[in-house]
Amino acid sequence: MARKKFVCGNWKMHRTAAEARTLAREVRAAAEPLAGRVDVAVAPPFTALFAVGAELAGSRIGLGAQNLHWEAQGAFTGEVSAHMLAEAGCRYVLCGHSERRQLFGDTDEAVRKKTGAALAAGLHPIVCVGETLPERESGRTLEVVGRQVRAALSGLGPDSIGGLTVAYEPVWAIGTGKTASAAQAQEVHAAIRGILKDLAPGAADAVRILYGGSVKPDNAAELMSQPDVDGALVGGASLKAIDFTGIIQGAIR
Ligand code: PGA
Repeated sequence: MARKKFVCGNWKMHRTAAEARTLAREVRAAAEPLAGRVDVAVAPPFTALFAVGAELAGSRIGLGAQNLHWEAQGAFTGEVSAHMLAEAGCRYVLCGHSERRQLFGDTDEAVRKKTGAALAAGLHPIVCVGETLPERESGRTLEVVGRQVRAALSGLGPDSIGGLTVAYEPVWAIGTGKTASAAQAQEVHAAIRGILKDLAPGAADAVRILYGGSVKPDNAAELMSQPDVDGALVGGASLKAIDFTGIIQGAIR
């Protein structure tokens, strides 16, 4: 089944609102002509969502957030809810990025609740999974990734599963310049697809599985030529409009 490719930039904790506005303008100028053939989104820091949303208004480039809390409101200092993100113009939200899991204690259960809350608010979750280097070296990659996918999606019906994206991001490849080979990525993506088929037989073929981890213009096309690699989640290279656009071009080739 042909799935439209999807390239999402994760700006992490980079760019003030003013700087983000400039980057969004550059991304729009370079990427908008390609955005019909590939779905494109950027996820700036919370403080830049409105500014970037305003820059992207009327374009086909979607807005995403990097995290959310699963409760609708309440005494959760420092947190932001799905409804708040939807009102800020977000279409997408990352759930369970490895930096959240490793540095901020996001558990599989937290990722499950975040994913459910995002769907309930009409947002499109991008559920991030991936193994660490010791886990890969001990041959546990598929076990770890499988556990993360099953936990995040547990309790969701086929319609909900059909409405989300999964991002496979090996922790050892994030921000390190080390990329999974196309074959390594495809192996894990195919395993994720198998789990999705188990959970939601009718919806699994429509779910996009993105690869993330040091994606650059020069490796994007090969990664995305794999049958189950449906796009890219891009950190460092999404902070330069020219590199981000080069990656989007790799999705078209
Ligand atoms: P990277 O980050 O492209 O800088 O490796 C990817 C990510 O963390 O989403």
